[in-house]
Amino acid sequence: TSALPIYTQEEVTSHRSIEDGVWVTYKGGVYDITEFVAMHPGGDRIMLAAGGALEPFWSLYAVHNQEHVLEILSEYKVGEL
Ligand code: HEM
Repeated sequence: TSALPIYTQEEVTSHRSIEDGVWVTYKGGVYDITEFVAMHPGGDRIMLAAGGALEPFWSLYAVHNQEHVLEILSEYKVGEL
């Protein structure tokens, strides 16, 4: 089992721009999605979640409730909360 670093919410919150990096959390995981932002099929709206949790947005946009979306997200995992 690979041990990923533990990050604080403050560290996640400090990453909410392309310049500083764009981090989000999902179910206790921390994801650096900087490289994905420009590829997002839903455009710039992805930045609404920058520095915070995906859950409130993904419950509004149920298009994310699919295995292939979670596979994309998993590629960007950098740590745990
Ligand atoms: C669509 C991934 C965050 C809004 C999609 C799709 C993917 C995706 C793969 C296409 C799904 C499909 O059609 O099968 C992601 C990932 C995210 C993320 C990996 C975070 C790391 C967000 C956030 C919002 C959002 C935070 C809103 C605030 C949308 C919308 C669509 C969409 C509105 C539909 C676009 C359309 O079909 O016109 N997203 N998303 N996404 N996403 Fe996201």
